[in-house]
Amino acid sequence: MKYVKWVATATILTTVLMGCAQTPPAPQAQKYKDGELPVPANYKGWPKFLSEIQRADTKQVREIYINPIGHSTKMGEAFPNGTISVMEIYKAREAADGTPLKGADGKFVKGDLLKVAVMGKGAGWGESVMPPDLRNGDWIYAMYMADGKTKAPDDTVTCRACHLPLTDKDYIFRYDEYFQKRIN
Ligand code: HEC
Repeated sequence: MKYVKWVATATILTTVLMGCAQTPPAPQAQKYKDGELPVPANYKGWPKFLSEIQRADTKQVREIYINPIGHSTKMGEAFPNGTISVMEIYKAREAADGTPLKGADGKFVKGDLLKVAVMGKGAGWGESVMPPDLRNGDWIYAMYMADGKTKAPDDTVTCRACHLPLTDKDYIFRYDEYFQKRIN
């Protein structure tokens, strides 16, 4: 009799404990489409992806950030779902004749912030992209004006078309440079 009671108690206990160990169903993660992913408010506190990119062709300086999830990626891997990259696009300051000014370090002098670009990936985010052959895996794109809120007129089809060939770099142009320069 005692034994039966013990077994009954143990069974109840096990059931309760297992119940606790079970993770509650994850809330349906939001799926973003092109043009929808907002600029995360705290991105300036994220790890730098690459800094002071010199774009002589467009007379721009660019700063790229990556969130901690993306930063946990190792060379050779694709970035995990949940990765977000933000790129600030600055105008290079120009001399009166229109040529970009250079500082003592030989680099362009950063002028006004022109636009803020965002790329993010999540499970199934790429499914909404039409036509499907423009899909960049599950990456989606958004471009904002300098305030980070007003949508820029850029057509996201152009983003996809230009990043598309980089299939073996997870659609990230400076993938190799990032992992080579990364210090931590
Ligand atoms: C003509 C080619 C081209 C187009 C169009 C383009 N990109 Fe890029 N993108 C690049 C290059 C090249 C880089 C690497 C930084 C650099 O060299 O300026 C880059 C980098 C980025 C990055 C930083 C992460 C990374 O991939 O290195 C983001 C975010 C980004 N682009 C978003 C966008 C968005 C949003 C659009 C469309 C509104 C867009 N891009 C359109 C060429 C392009």
